[in-house]
Amino acid sequence: MSDIYILGCGAVGLLLAEKLSHHHSVTLITRTASKQAFFFIDGKQRRQLNVKMTTLEDLSGKIHTCIVPVKAYQLVSAMEALSPHLSHDANVILSHNGMSDLNHFNSILQPTQALYFLSTSMGGMKPDNNTVIFKGPGLTQLGACNAQAKNQITELYDRYFMQYFEPIELTNDIAEVRWQKLCVNIAINPLTALMQCPNGALQTPAYATQVLKLLNEACFVAQCEGVKLQLATELARAYKVMALTQHNTSSMAQDIKLKRRTEIDAICGYIATTAKKYGYQATENETLWQQVKIKEQA
Ligand code: PAF
Repeated sequence: MSDIYILGCGAVGLLLAEKLSHHHSVTLITRTASKQAFFFIDGKQRRQLNVKMTTLEDLSGKIHTCIVPVKAYQLVSAMEALSPHLSHDANVILSHNGMSDLNHFNSILQPTQALYFLSTSMGGMKPDNNTVIFKGPGLTQLGACNAQAKNQITELYDRYFMQYFEPIELTNDIAEVRWQKLCVNIAINPLTALMQCPNGALQTPAYATQVLKLLNEACFVAQCEGVKLQLATELARAYKVMALTQHNTSSMAQDIKLKRRTEIDAICGYIATTAKKYGYQATENETLWQQVKIKEQA
């Protein structure tokens, strides 16, 4: 019997599977039944992931702990498919770029089931469906998203995360962490996707005004939503991530290159639509949202 399940075999899903599989029994839930192995590449080392595989249809028992690192736009269908397979006291850990409606996911779960969010900036790239290349460590943060999760987060953190992820943090304010990550994604992902450049290329003065305006709008909308962010702090955070991941290709740049749907609706699209709720036009985010959409559909 597996002690942790991962639904979603993208770069983050496979990185998490690799880390956890050294100490836990990990099962990857794939969309279709497959006997193909998964591989992890770190520098010159390539090894097979020590994981089991199943589809939701083939599951025999109930799931107690499941990480769901799927794209924001896949989350509703993933959670609806997963929920009948969860035990009454299950832990569900979401992890994705962009904003999603946590109230909706809480309404899918029972009050005895715990919902968490895991934010990570570990770098990973998938050169093919079954391989992840490790591109470097990054901060991982875990926070509770409902009352049940608040009661038992320390236990979950100690068991699965504390010793195996570095750097790692347990956060009391996951809403703030999600906004901070959203700001990083707004500053890096769409521009690298449009320019098809590595993250570090955005550090030049040519993009400085645009990045400033994008984050200024994001901080304003965050404040409307009750989350206080300082523009200078968010700018500093975004530039730090650009520097730390300067040789990496962002997930959105990879999506555009591989002609996949991007997460732009949950990133710049989220800012533009939420701004409208408050009678405000977030024009920089709106423009970038449309530009990425055009590129995505081309
Ligand atoms: O989406 C990504 O690629 C990552 O979240 C980040 C932090 C922008 C680094 O590339």
